[in-house]
Amino acid sequence: MIQQDYLEVTKNVYKKAAENPQVGLCCTTTPVWQLPGLSIPQRMLEMNYGCGSTVNSRDLINNPRVLYVGVGGGMELLQFAYFSRQLKGVVGIDVVDEMLEASRSNFKEAEQLNPWFRSEFVELIKGDALNLPIEDNSIDVAAQNCLFNIFKHEDLKQALKEMYRVIKPHGRLVLSDPVCEQDMPENLKEDERLRALCLSGSIPLNKYIRMITDVGFGTVEIRARRPYRILNPGRYNTTEMLFIESVEVCAIKDPMPSDGPCVFTGKTAIYYGNEESFDDNKGHLLFPDQPLSVCDKTAGALAFLGRNDIFISESTYFYDGGGCC
Ligand SMILES: C[S@@+](CC[C@H](N)C(=O)[O-])C[C@H]1O[C@@H](n2cnc3c(N)ncnc32)[C@H](O)[C@@H]1O
Repeated sequence: MIQQDYLEVTKNVYKKAAENPQVGLCCTTTPVWQLPGLSIPQRMLEMNYGCGSTVNSRDLINNPRVLYVGVGGGMELLQFAYFSRQLKGVVGIDVVDEMLEASRSNFKEAEQLNPWFRSEFVELIKGDALNLPIEDNSIDVAAQNCLFNIFKHEDLKQALKEMYRVIKPHGRLVLSDPVCEQDMPENLKEDERLRALCLSGSIPLNKYIRMITDVGFGTVEIRARRPYRILNPGRYNTTEMLFIESVEVCAIKDPMPSDGPCVFTGKTAIYYGNEESFDDNKGHLLFPDQPLSVCDKTAGALAFLGRNDIFISESTYFYDGGGCC
């Protein structure tokens, strides 16, 4: 039998998933965005192959140019277009012809259901996440949902580098992917089909974040973390039960701080002392009883002071902006 490269297996899996929608191939852990005047075609819903959401109105101010890599049935591109409503406001890249074709036909149907929408709002381009056909520093918001977890280490690094290259300074990369804190058994990692189905490529969250900051993103927000899948020994070739979660992460192309990236995992500092305020002389001013979202670096530095009038919360993994840095 000829051993196929996992990237080729992935393309074949999604060629078939474009020709025949497979409900539940990946399954979203969130309800699909319902917005006033937005109707999502049934086939698009059936081709929702993401594990969370990358669409957040907060990211979409000032007419951003949006890039979406790995289009699937096009649902999230339609949701982005709902906000941007301009010709070629959203650029979609996919390496599988059949997926581009399927999303193109879904956009035609979306035109019938949504008077505000025109297919020309989305520009579809054939291309590879590992070599994006996009100019440097030209994108305000880039997104990918449930594609990067499929990539092996060197390819994931390359895909992140490509995103970093095309995003403008201070622009954003929004990601949604499965993660797994346990060691994925080697035989599952090397199972190309399971990997393509977003089941066995996941890595621990801190490694995922490290790879994002290693390519240069100076700020990272963990916006959501939810239970996703169980791989149990009865159904999968594993001796222990594996717990997979899905995360939504936003990486911002801010300059890298000299003391390392700011990673917000939902920690909050609350000063409850008797002074007017507490100043750490590093740019963080805490007022009594006012919660301040802090990045993990700042949370660690405040905890290190050992004060008994500052409370530092655990990570909630639900961070949505604001805060210290
Ligand atoms: C799991 S699906 C996710 C689809 C979509 N993001 C969603 O949330 O429904 C992965 C998508 O990435 C595409 N894809 C696979 N390999 C790719 C690559 N190397 N470069 C770009 N797209 C790729 C597939 O064709 C498919 O559309």
